[in-house]
Amino acid sequence: MLFIAKNSATRRLFSIVHASRAESSKAVKTTTSNENEKFEALSDAQKAYLNRVIRVDQAGELGANYIYAGQYFVLANKHRHLKPILQEMWDQEIQHHKVFNELQLKRRVRPSLLTPMWKVGAFAMGSLTALLSPAGAMACTEAVETVIGNHYNAQLRCLNDQFQFKKPSGVTGQSEEIKDLASTIAQFRDEELEHLDTAVLHDSHKAVPYMLLTGTIKTICRAAIWTAERV
Ligand SMILES: [Fe+2]
Ligand SMILES: [Fe+2]
Repeated sequence: MLFIAKNSATRRLFSIVHASRAESSKAVKTTTSNENEKFEALSDAQKAYLNRVIRVDQAGELGANYIYAGQYFVLANKHRHLKPILQEMWDQEIQHHKVFNELQLKRRVRPSLLTPMWKVGAFAMGSLTALLSPAGAMACTEAVETVIGNHYNAQLRCLNDQFQFKKPSGVTGQSEEIKDLASTIAQFRDEELEHLDTAVLHDSHKAVPYMLLTGTIKTICRAAIWTAERV
């Protein structure tokens, strides 16, 4: 009797363990199938927004590349202590520009129609502020990077808020494509803010007339961003 009772208790225990194993293997299977599931497709509005992001950021990084080219052209030989600092920031802009060029090709986004104007305008902005003084060039960098830092932050907020997708199983999250884009933008935002700090460290506030110069450049940058998103 005791043996039968013991035996049935063992069987019950075994069946519980077995059931729990089956459950956990089912859970593993569910997780795996969730991972393989695709997120819902982008809406037309989301596609249009991503195209705008890539178009304006590619144009912006091209502009930054030409601004530093103008500054380097004027200052590198006359103020040799600034040469490595300008070169380092310029190299980062070249890299940013390259990444957005690649994204533009990958997503087949048409470039801004005003690309030639961005090149000329940015080179002129970089070289003219550098001709004013080294501090003038740094004030230009401070103003540009302030606007670009805010611009990238606004894009990151939008990607975070408006680009959460569902899988058929109900799981929500971001696709790898959106995660990659957001991490690229976050990295570039951090580097732009480092450029801003470098400019302040190199006397951007001593530029004359500081307020007029930075105010004008910020307005030009905001207008350029608005235009490059659309044209
Ligand atoms: Fe940049
Ligand atoms: Fe920058």
